[in-house]
Amino acid sequence: MSTDPSQSIQWFVERDEDSYRHEAKNILESYAHPWDILVELAQNAVDAIDQKSQKDEHFQAGNLRIEVDQNNRSITCFDNGVGIGETEIKKVLRPHFSAKKGKTLRGEKGVGLTYIALVGNQFRLTTKSGGKANRLSLDGAQEWVGGRGSRPVIHVDTATKDIYPKLESYTEVSVAAIPETAVAEEELDIFTLNIKQLAHLLRTRTALGYTGTLFNIPPHCKIEITVKVQGKDGNLETQAIPYEYAAPSTYMNSKSLITLDEVKTHLANDEKRKVLGKAIHFAKVFQTKAQKDVRAYCFLTSRHLYNQLSEDLQLPEDLRIQGGIYIATKGMPTGILLPALKTGRAGYWPNIYLLLEYDNITLDLGRKSITAPRTIEMLGKQAAQVFNDIERYVKYTIREDEGTLDAVVSQDELQEEVTAVRNEPHFVYKDTRTGQTLPSNYPFERAPKQEQDVIALFSMALARGLFPYELLRVSSSYRYDCFLQLTVDTSTKKRVPLVAEFKYQGESILKDLEESKARYGQLQILICWTLDETKLRTAGFIVDRILQGAKKELPGSTHKLSFPSSAAVKDQPVAVICLSQVLHQDV
Ligand SMILES: Nc1ncnc2c1ncn2[C@@H]1O[C@H](COP(=O)(O)OP(=O)(O)OP(=O)(O)O)[C@@H](O)[C@H]1O
Ligand SMILES: [Mg+2]
Repeated sequence: MSTDPSQSIQWFVERDEDSYRHEAKNILESYAHPWDILVELAQNAVDAIDQKSQKDEHFQAGNLRIEVDQNNRSITCFDNGVGIGETEIKKVLRPHFSAKKGKTLRGEKGVGLTYIALVGNQFRLTTKSGGKANRLSLDGAQEWVGGRGSRPVIHVDTATKDIYPKLESYTEVSVAAIPETAVAEEELDIFTLNIKQLAHLLRTRTALGYTGTLFNIPPHCKIEITVKVQGKDGNLETQAIPYEYAAPSTYMNSKSLITLDEVKTHLANDEKRKVLGKAIHFAKVFQTKAQKDVRAYCFLTSRHLYNQLSEDLQLPEDLRIQGGIYIATKGMPTGILLPALKTGRAGYWPNIYLLLEYDNITLDLGRKSITAPRTIEMLGKQAAQVFNDIERYVKYTIREDEGTLDAVVSQDELQEEVTAVRNEPHFVYKDTRTGQTLPSNYPFERAPKQEQDVIALFSMALARGLFPYELLRVSSSYRYDCFLQLTVDTSTKKRVPLVAEFKYQGESILKDLEESKARYGQLQILICWTLDETKLRTAGFIVDRILQGAKKELPGSTHKLSFPSSAAVKDQPVAVICLSQVLHQDV
C-alpha cells in the first residue's frame, strides 16, 4: 500500500475504483442483522482488552463503553485494550487485514472494522499504542458505496491529541451519520432502542454477553462495561452492565428458578409441587468424537413466561426472548440459531432455550451462518440429545392457565400424530401402565392386562374394519358381555345376531360355565387375549385351530371349541377370537 506524505490514503488505491466498490458492497451485503455494527465493535474491543491483559500482567480490568446517539445516528465504542500501532493503523481498513493471531481471539476475518467504516458517512478511530496516539478518519464511505460521491480518502493523523493521556493504550471508534435508509423498513432500527433494550441486545448478541459464566469458566480478563444512550428527547441514559450473557434466568427471581438436579431430587422424593411452575436450567458439557467440548446451557419455561419477560423489557420483535437453539463460540453469542429439530414432540421446542457453545466453529463473511455442514449436523445431534434428556420435564414448567396457548402451538404436533395414526397397521392399543413390552412389530405398545383392555382392543379392531361385525351392545350388566351382528348374505342383507363373551384368558370361560353364568350353546363367540388349549382339553373340550381366512368359520376366529359328539350335546361350537394370535398373524 502506498501512502502519500500527508498520511492520506486514497481508498485502496492499488486496485481500480469499481473493483473496490464492488468488494465494499459485498462486505456490506454479507451482514444481515441491524445490530451487526455493535457486534463487530464489541468483538474488537473485547479482543483488544484480552490482548492487553495477555501482554501486561499488571493490567487489572478492561474498560469498555458503548454510546449510541439517536440524534446524529452515531455509535461510539471505547476500550482500554492494546490499541493500534502506527504501521497497523494504515492497514486496518483494508478488507481482510487482521493482525489477530491468538486462537482465543474472536476476530479472524479482517473485515469487521471495514464493515463499520462503510456503514456510515463519518468514521473516526483514535487509538494509542506504544505511548503514541494516532487518528484515522474517513468521510462519505456509505455514499460512495451507494454510487454517489468520489472515492473517499482515509486520513491518518500521526500528530493527534491524546484524548485519554492517563491511559497507556486505548481505542475509540466512532461511526456517525448512519443513514436511516441503511435499515430496511421492516427491520429493527437500533437508534430507537432505550437503554434496557440496548443492554439486552448487547448481552445476548455481541461479545459483551460473555457466555463462559454459564459454564463457570471465568473470562480471560474482567471487563467493566458502560452503556449510554443519548435520546432524541435530549435525555442521556447511562447503565453499567455485567460482562455476562443475559440468559432468560438473568431477568428472574432466583425463587422461580430450579436446577435440573434439584428437579430430579424432588421428583424422586415425590415432591412434584416443588417443581411445578418453576423454570428449569442447567449446564452440561459434551465431548465430540474429536474430544472437543460442546457446552450446553439449557433453560426451560412456559411460553407464557418468555412472553412476560419480553414484555417487561419491552423488547421489539427481533429481540424477544424465546425458545431456540442459540450458537455461541469462544465465549460469545453468535446470533446464529439452529433450525428447530423434528423430534417426536416438536411442540415442546418453543419452551426450550438452548445455548450450544463450540469453539471450533467457522463462520461465513458477516457471521450469519456456520460454514461447515458437519459442524451443524454435530450440533444438531447434541441438541437432540439435550432434548431427549429434558423432554419429560417440560410439562412441569407449563402453567395451568396456558392451555390455550399450548393448544394453538401444538396444532402442528397434533397433525403429525394424526398422520402417524393413519399410517399405523390396523390399530394401536396403548396402555400406559407398565407391563411387558411386546415385540417391536406389534401395532401397540403394551399387552392387555385385563378384560377391559381386551374389550378396548376388540372395539378398536372393529372400528378399523379388521373384522366385519357390527357392535350392538357391550355391557357388564347383562348375562353376556356383548352382542354383535354379522351380515351373512350381502344380496339379501340377512343379518344374524351373535352372543359374545370377553375374557382376558380364554380358558376362564370354564369357570363361567361351571357357575352357570354363561350357558354353553347360547354363546357363539369368545373374544380373549390368550388361550390355554391344554386346560380346555382337560376339561373335555375339543379345541380346533382355524386357519386364517377359513370360509366356513366366523370372521377372525382362531379356534373352535366344541364338546365331543359322544357327549350327546348337540350344541353349536363356540368360535374363539384369540386377539394375541390375530395380531401375530397380521403384523
Ligand atoms: N478496538 C481495537 N483495538 C485494537 N485493535 C483493533 C481494534 N479494532 C480493530 N483493531 C485492529 O484492526 C484489525 C482489523 O479489525 P477487523 O475487525 O476488521 O478484523 P478482525 O477483528 O481481525 O477480524 P473480523 O473481521 O473477524 O472482525 C484487527 O485485526 C486489529 O488489529
Ligand atoms: Mg473484528
